[in-house]
Amino acid sequence: MDTPALQNLLLQLAQAAQRGLLALLDALGLAPPVHGQPAWPLPWRVAVENLLIDGGLARELALWLLLAGTALAFALLALAWQRRRWPLLAGAAALLALAPWPPAALLFTPAVPTSFHRSPTGFEAAGIQRGLALYQAQCAACHGADGRGEGPLAASLPRWPPTLSAGLLWKRAEGELLWRVQQGLHDAQGRPTMPGFADRLSTDDTWAVLDAMKVLAAGDSARRQAAWPWPVAAPRLAVECADAPGPRPLSHWRGQRLRLVLAGGPLPQPIEDPRFVTVVLGAEAPPDDGVAAARQAGADCSVRSDAARAAYAQLAGQAWPSPVAGRDPAAGLQFLIDRDGWLRAVSRPGAPGWSADDLLCRAEPGAGNATTAPARDGLDALIARMDAEPVQVARLGLPHAR
Ligand code: HEC
Repeated sequence: MDTPALQNLLLQLAQAAQRGLLALLDALGLAPPVHGQPAWPLPWRVAVENLLIDGGLARELALWLLLAGTALAFALLALAWQRRRWPLLAGAAALLALAPWPPAALLFTPAVPTSFHRSPTGFEAAGIQRGLALYQAQCAACHGADGRGEGPLAASLPRWPPTLSAGLLWKRAEGELLWRVQQGLHDAQGRPTMPGFADRLSTDDTWAVLDAMKVLAAGDSARRQAAWPWPVAAPRLAVECADAPGPRPLSHWRGQRLRLVLAGGPLPQPIEDPRFVTVVLGAEAPPDDGVAAARQAGADCSVRSDAARAAYAQLAGQAWPSPVAGRDPAAGLQFLIDRDGWLRAVSRPGAPGWSADDLLCRAEPGAGNATTAPARDGLDALIARMDAEPVQVARLGLPHAR
């Protein structure tokens, strides 16, 4: 087994063991809820982020688990096999003594009650819009309107706010981000570096702001590097289709590719393409006739949502709201969503057609920018690459598959 596969396995094991323990304590009534979910009761947790960065640590832990597991098997055998009890126990003790226990300082890291909390938002477009408004009101003064940490107050602070576009939000456990925003941050001497927002933001609002920050960070990265260095889920929205009554979530098509066309620009011809399900996203207010025009042109599925248009346009790195009056930054954008619901590629209005450069979520961040990028190879090649490089979420820190 190569080291990345081993790291992946250990990550899964560690998370499953810790979540299992939390579920057990919850079932026994020993993990009373904090911020709406069972609280992690211990002051530390396994530092899975270190396991991912440090292959040596992962190998050491794997060896320890192997030896400790064998020692346990010997001990159990000793219980059953009376005649060989002492040699077996001696063997178990020797194995345990030999097993190199990895340094606890690397293997464990301080935890908070919300360390294993999961965001309940589902990255839903309406929540993102609410979060963006809260962000501009509460956070932008320090973190900057675009999340780059250059707000008007930033220079006056004892510590400069971090830039969020470098992937910081994706490297942290989301529950720990929730905790930091609610409780605030301190330096090593205990002096506050960022105020806590527990008195101003509810738990739901804080989750919404964290979604909004991810949108800003991904958009900033799309603008500057033509890449999302971390995988971005397609914001959720409910879609109406000609063949079925009632709205359906985008996740209805999990397992199939989706193309999201933001109405207002030229429609793709033909509008239905066998390679994916096409969804047309229009604006809510009249005189938007983008959806009507798309339906006339034969589009099967559509939705009108200003919140979703705002979220998708910002993910593509469009300035929002538009600095040019009367210009709609969302009009004519197209997105490809892979079979697992990840946003993978963006095409802008006026582009001659899809090319490998449109792949914003790819295995090597920034690779598409390089002059060595393959020549324009169209939608088929792009789809082939998207399928061949599925996102591996398990590898928190290095999420795009090789
Ligand atoms: C008064 C200025 C200020 C305001 C207002 C502010 N922040 Fe911060 N924020 C900071 C500073 C400074 C840091 C870096 C602190 C440190 O590393 O000790 C920071 C760090 C962070 C981090 C990174 C935490 C980590 O894990 O490293 C997040 C996330 C964050 N802020 C979110 C928010 C959100 C969300 C809001 C609004 C609800 C907000 N901040 C409002 C100054 C501010």
